[in-house]
Amino acid sequence: MLSAPECLWLCLAALILSASAEGEPGSRIKVVVLEGSDAVLPCSLSTKEKTEQKLFNWKKVDPNKQEVFRYDGGNHYNDGQDEHFRGRVSHFPLELQSGNASIIIKNTLVPDSGNYTCDLFLQKKQAFSIELVVGAAPKPLIHVLKITEDEARLKCEVRGAFPKPKVEWRDGDGNILPAEEPQVSHTGERYNITLLTTVTRTNSSLFHCVATQEEIGHVTEDKLYVAFSGAALKPFVGILNITEYRVQLRCEVRGASPKPRVEWRDSHGNILPAEQPQVSHRDGRYDITLLTTVTRTNTNIFHCVATQEEISHVTEEEIHVPDQLFESCDGVGVIVSVFASGFSVTVFASLLLFSACIKCC
Ligand SMILES: *[C@@H]1O[C@H](CO)[C@@H](O)[C@H](O)[C@H]1NC(C)=O
Ligand SMILES: *[C@@H]1O[C@H](CO)[C@@H](O)[C@H](O)[C@H]1NC(C)=O
Ligand SMILES: *[C@@H]1O[C@H](CO)[C@@H](O)[C@H](O)[C@H]1NC(C)=O
Ligand SMILES: *[C@@H]1O[C@H](CO)[C@@H](O)[C@H](O)[C@H]1NC(C)=O
Ligand SMILES: *[C@@H]1O[C@H](CO)[C@@H](O)[C@H](O)[C@H]1NC(C)=O
Repeated sequence: MLSAPECLWLCLAALILSASAEGEPGSRIKVVVLEGSDAVLPCSLSTKEKTEQKLFNWKKVDPNKQEVFRYDGGNHYNDGQDEHFRGRVSHFPLELQSGNASIIIKNTLVPDSGNYTCDLFLQKKQAFSIELVVGAAPKPLIHVLKITEDEARLKCEVRGAFPKPKVEWRDGDGNILPAEEPQVSHTGERYNITLLTTVTRTNSSLFHCVATQEEIGHVTEDKLYVAFSGAALKPFVGILNITEYRVQLRCEVRGASPKPRVEWRDSHGNILPAEQPQVSHRDGRYDITLLTTVTRTNTNIFHCVATQEEISHVTEEEIHVPDQLFESCDGVGVIVSVFASGFSVTVFASLLLFSACIKCC
């Protein structure tokens, strides 16, 4: 599916292309494509005079009139063709009978951008000029650098864009937010732009970073819901199931933003193998449940750790699994208390233990 801005862009491109199909000698035509797609550079006679037996010659003006494609009465030459275009350019043989000497450049690259000339040699030479703009429109990426109770420092990065985009921070209603001076660097034609802003708590905590490239009619954005008191609360841990010599543990992190990484660790801090985390989110906040199955260790203490790197926040909870639970079911005669922080965990674990025993004893 295309997003709205992409559709808009396609429409604009189609308009530009349809306008250009009527190119007249001497007129200037602009063709806009996105990097990686194919570009048709139009060059045709309005008289529809046959060009099969004629000569036409495509060149790129900058930097030094490179040979792009050359056709001479049935043959096309690759001899003089510039290295950069090798294997990527072809013409439309069937169109020649209606005076159409257009070419197609496959798999366009940003450096293909520039002015091209198409010289058609009939009774006299006719010259066409076409400007090709190959845009690279990467999506901006938002990072949360720091977040407090009511203030967040946000970074928006656009990397490898061409032409140079205008980058803006906007709030949920589309108003432009004050931001710092953008940091702009470029490698060849491609621009990297970083834009920092500090936002405060508002009722709508949805922020957008919008990159606009007017020359190619392209708009792309990233958005982020900032949950101001979103640092993950202590995980909630408990015993989920008891089978012979193994105990299944559950860890739940609720309402965290940004999305935390959740891990089970043993008392030495080693990460324990766990099941695929179950992740759900609403309004930019995440609920994550992580299950693991443990066997007896010398401490029987296990930690669930939630890490939010973007906001340098780590929180954890531990659970002590009583040694008896690792015995085969026959050995579990009495309900022992399960240490975990929080009364409900203990009750929950005891109940489970109880039901496990009823089931298998
Ligand atoms: C010339 O041929 C190309 C490729 O088939 C086509 O896209 C274009 O519309 C043609 N131009 C005209 C004026 O017919
Ligand atoms: C192409 O030619 C036009 C008109 O001369 C000029 O304005 C434009 O900057 C040129 N484009 C490039 C990429 O050199
Ligand atoms: C721009 O970003 C790209 C991709 O991360 C990186 O490789 C390149 O070095 C950056 N260029 C500049 C000039 O910072
Ligand atoms: C949030 O909304 C409430 C009620 O609509 C309003 O009274 C309050 O001023 C708003 N706060 C901000 C920071 O916009
Ligand atoms: C506990 O584990 C046993 C054996 O793997 C399984 O049959 C049972 O359904 C599990 N009970 C719960 C509540 O997950």
